[in-house]
Amino acid sequence: MAKIIDVGSYVVDLTSRTPHFPKPGETVFAGPFSMGHGGKGSNQAVAAARLGASVTMVTKVGKDLFGDHALEHFRKENIRDDYVLRDEHESTGAALIGIDDTGENMIIVAPGACGTMTEEDVYRAEREFQKVDMVLTQLETSMEAVEATVELARTFAKPIVLNPAPFQPVSDRLLKHITYITPNETEAEQLTGVQVVDEESARMAARILVEKGVTTVIITLGKRGCYVYDSEKGGRLIQGCSINVCDTTGAGDAFTGAFTTYVADGLAIDEAAYRANMVAALSVTRQGTAKSMPTTAELEAFMAKMSQE
Ligand code: RIB
Repeated sequence: MAKIIDVGSYVVDLTSRTPHFPKPGETVFAGPFSMGHGGKGSNQAVAAARLGASVTMVTKVGKDLFGDHALEHFRKENIRDDYVLRDEHESTGAALIGIDDTGENMIIVAPGACGTMTEEDVYRAEREFQKVDMVLTQLETSMEAVEATVELARTFAKPIVLNPAPFQPVSDRLLKHITYITPNETEAEQLTGVQVVDEESARMAARILVEKGVTTVIITLGKRGCYVYDSEKGGRLIQGCSINVCDTTGAGDAFTGAFTTYVADGLAIDEAAYRANMVAALSVTRQGTAKSMPTTAELEAFMAKMSQE
């Protein structure tokens, strides 16, 4: 069983669907409103746990009702919560999410308590870093927490996956210790300055990151799949699949959580990326973020159906 430690965010998602996104200064009516579990760190933990990984979550929530819900959520999803801290002063974070008629999303995230995570908060879980196969993190907490996570992964020589979302500038000093990075096209451009529009530009962006010391770059490309690049094999497109999109929110989380699980399980990178594409594709056919993550049985059924079409 894959053992993963995930240092990341938990926030509550406040979601509504709207025919189109408002322009600055505009108010638009929205359809049904829903509240759910979110945060990129937590969503990736759910994706991994539902695919059978043993996941330890390191995060911080408030001493409030949303914080209580977070703990219930981790227990229900079989995610270890020994390192989920409660902050006396900061409230649990929240994300305001709009989804338009095409299933595209727009997110404003207020990380709240998890945005104040310190180096010390991460080092409380130091022992756990020794026991895992892979370390997973994103950029939705504080840069101090991200740096401590990278440092601990390095200390114990554990492969580390960085999902650079939401984008924050990442130093070259940090990048050179990253084993796998999983930006989408926008984040790849923000990290490298190369606008990713096709395979050639994906290769150029990925090469820049590899030259900075990242071992393997995986740029997610929506329904086209993902572009994998490392210095050993060069670049290659790993096919995705076309499906009816309901809600793209959390697709990147589905991909990264699944990819981490499969690599930790010992799958070759291309196979892990292919299966992670399928997990992300299945997740966008469903509404919501954490709740759209599939189990292994659901994934197998989906892949069997896709292979017949
Ligand atoms: O990646 C999707 C997530 O980003 C949402 O669940 C929301 O919480 C934001 O953090």
